[in-house]
This record gives sequence, C-alpha cells and structure tokens, in this order.
Amino acid sequence: MLSVIGTGYLGATHAACMAELGFDVIGIDTDATKITLLSQGELPFYEPGLDDLLRKHVATGKLRFSTDFSDLAQADVHFICVGTPQRKDGNAADLTYVNAALEGTAAHAKPGSLIVGKSTVPVGTADALTARLAEINPHVELAWNPEFLREGFAVEDTLRPNRLVVGVQSARAEEQLRDVYVALLKDGVPWISADLRTAELVKVAANSFLATKISFINAMAEICDAAGGDVTVLAKAIGYDPRIGNRFLQAGIGFGGGCLPKDIRAFMARAEELGADQALEFLRDIDSINLRARARIIDVAAEYGDLKGEKVFILGAAFKPDSDDVRDSPALDIAYGISQRGARVVVNDPKAMEPAAKRFPHLEFTDDLLAGAQDAHLILHLTEWKEYRALNPADFAKVVANRVIIDGRNALDGDAWRDAGFIYRAPGRPTLTPKK
Ligand code: UGA
Repeated sequence: MLSVIGTGYLGATHAACMAELGFDVIGIDTDATKITLLSQGELPFYEPGLDDLLRKHVATGKLRFSTDFSDLAQADVHFICVGTPQRKDGNAADLTYVNAALEGTAAHAKPGSLIVGKSTVPVGTADALTARLAEINPHVELAWNPEFLREGFAVEDTLRPNRLVVGVQSARAEEQLRDVYVALLKDGVPWISADLRTAELVKVAANSFLATKISFINAMAEICDAAGGDVTVLAKAIGYDPRIGNRFLQAGIGFGGGCLPKDIRAFMARAEELGADQALEFLRDIDSINLRARARIIDVAAEYGDLKGEKVFILGAAFKPDSDDVRDSPALDIAYGISQRGARVVVNDPKAMEPAAKRFPHLEFTDDLLAGAQDAHLILHLTEWKEYRALNPADFAKVVANRVIIDGRNALDGDAWRDAGFIYRAPGRPTLTPKK
C-alpha cells in the first residue's frame, strides 16, 4: 500500500497513476472540500485523461482519500506531493506545507516504511527533513524522487516518464523505490540513483534549462524585431542541430504557470544563499527576459491606439493550452496590463475562464468568440489552443472595428489573417499587412 500526501496537481496525478500500476493508494490532504470531491471521483481541475483514471480506481476502492493522517499508517511508501509556492516576502520557496506534511506523515508512518519527497524544494531541504525525521520517527527513512510531469500530459508523463531520478540514503530505500516503479523499469525507463542533494537539484536544473531555452529564443525574437529577421524560421533552422533540438524554442510571450517561474526564482534565492553569484545572475537574466516578453506585447498593442477606452479582445487566459491553470499566466498578466492602460478587456478561454474571472473580476469574459470580437479595436492571441487555430479570420474581419491581430504565441496562420484583411503582428517576425 502507498500513501500520497497532498492531492493537488502532482499528488492527485501520482495517486491515480500508482493505483493504475496496481497499488492500493490512500491520498491525504488537509483540504476537506478537495478530499470530498476526489472521493466522489471528481477532479478539482482539468487534466486530460486523469478524470477517467480517478473515477475508475475510486470505483474499485483501490484509490481512497482522507483528511486524517492516521489513515496512512499501513502504507509501505509515502509520497509527499504538497506545493512549494513562492514566498510572499521574496523569491524563496515557502516550505510550510512540506514541513507540515513530513510532521504529519512521520507521526503515523510504520517502522521500516519510506517517506519520499516529490515536491520541488531548494537543495538542502531533504537534509533538514532527515534530521527532523530522526527526532520524530527514527525507524523511517527519507528519500527524494523529483517529478517532471507537464500539465496537459500529466498521466502520460507519470506512467511513461523519460527518466526516474531517486535520491537515497541507503540501498534498502533504493530497493523500496524500485519495487514501486518495477513496471516502468520493465518498460526500460532509465533509472538514476543519486544522493539527496543531487536529486533535489536535478529538478530545478531541468526546469531552469527549459526556462533558459524559452528566454533564449525570446531574446532572439527581440533581435529579429530590431534587425528585421523571422524568429520562427531561425528556431526551425537551429533546431535541426540535434545538440540544440527544436522543442521549447517557441518564441512569444514567454513561460508562466505554477512551476517554471517560481522554480527559477526559488533557485535564485538558494543560489544567493549559497554564494553562487554567477548562477544567480544567469537565472536573474532568464527571469527578466521572460517578464520583458510580456511587457513588449503590451507596447506593441499600444502602437495601434492609445488603448484608453478601446475594446481589446483576448484569446486565451490559461498559462498554456490543455490546461485551466492561470497561475502566473502570461496571457492573463497581459490582459491585466492592458486593462490598466484603460482598455475594456474581453477575454475568452476554452477552459480557464472561471479561474481567470476569480483572479481578475474586473475583466469581462465571454464564450461567444464573435461577440467578443464585435467592435474590437485589437485582437490578441495569447494561449495557443487548437480551437483558435481553427478560427475563420473572415468571420472576424466582418465584426471588428479595426483589423489588427497580435499573435503572442506565433501559432496562428498569419497569411490567412492577412488575406482576410488583418494586420498580423507576432514577436520576432516581420509584420504582415493586407495586400492592396
Ligand atoms: C513544467 C516542465 O515542463 C515539467 O517538466 C515540470 O515537471 C513542471 O514544469 C513542474 O515543475 O511541475 P508545465 O508547467 O506543465 O511543466 O509547463 P510547460 O509545458 O513546461 O510550459 C511552461 C510555459 O512555457 C508555458 O507558459 C508555455 O506556454 C511556455 N512555453 C513553452 C513557451 O513559451 N515556449 C515554448 O517553446 C514552450
């Protein structure tokens, strides 16, 4: 039997996937509303494929949920999957939930069981937790097993990960983790065994590298804009070199979400504490290029009017497609920035309008795309849902007040919008203007 502590994005996915691998799983969370929903087989967020898995295993009883830590007493391995948000007073990670999860688990874990951290934490956290665990429950060991799942592909990434990384303090702990993942190991998933600190670092290094790729291409977009090049062709051309690769080179309004932005900031804070000044400067640049990509789009929008009192229609609120997550969403941040310039902002998103409206109640939301575009001074495409690529530009040409579209994700068919009479702008690319 396994336990999963924290049933947010990571925990709910991990719990359902471990049940799919054949384990009995108990999910623990202090949020009673969440536990009630999950116990009924209902997911509190949108993630393709996870709802089916949850329903299936709740129905068979393999997967149960509880608010009571004592329910994990029979589990052999406990996975800590709670959040580590950015602290309100700076860049560092808030470890309140991780510390509480360790205390709660250690108080009830049976002798010989293993506690495994999956949360993203600053290097050195597992050492501190090990010391605390020795005080509360010396017959239980701690390991670290970072998670690399992407929202929108959470089930696929958990059941078919491209690697498994474990930070362990004994051969026994490694064996216990191998037993959990035996089915994946049979499928040939690479297994990397490390010390606790390296395992913690692998996670933040991986996310920082992904963030670096995106900020690199956005810096190239800035150069293309200044020099008159096309960043999408540039990305394609450099991406053919397998040492560079073509993934994560989509220029636009940059990265957002609950992971990349806060992870690089927490890494910055830790680098500073450790005196690793060069790493700190490097990460600071990645973060600031990313935030600049958002600001630049607002400046481009302002080239087409002073925005004050004008209607701006925004396609997208989620931080990326196939997600209803609006945490640090570049799209929503830009929507807010444009509303601050006095525009009347109307937003559409296939899945994220409810959470977006909760965050920014002063913005308008509509699921009627043509009504949203009616008399709009400007359209901004900010989250690349496939629904938006399927739009017919001619329909929009008939209703807007001004035929200008800014494609913040470099994802639409610019020629099609131009042919329908629009000016098409996208970061790092020459402007397309309608043929006379
Ligand atoms: C990210 C990592 O990709 C996962 O490997 C990691 O496990 C996860 O964080 C985590 O730490 O939990 P996720 O936040 O789901 O996953 O999102 P990504 O797919 O990485 O996208 C992040 C942001 O980058 C999005 O806003 C996306 O629009 C943007 N992006 C992505 C670009 O601007 N350009 C690209 O080429 C790719």
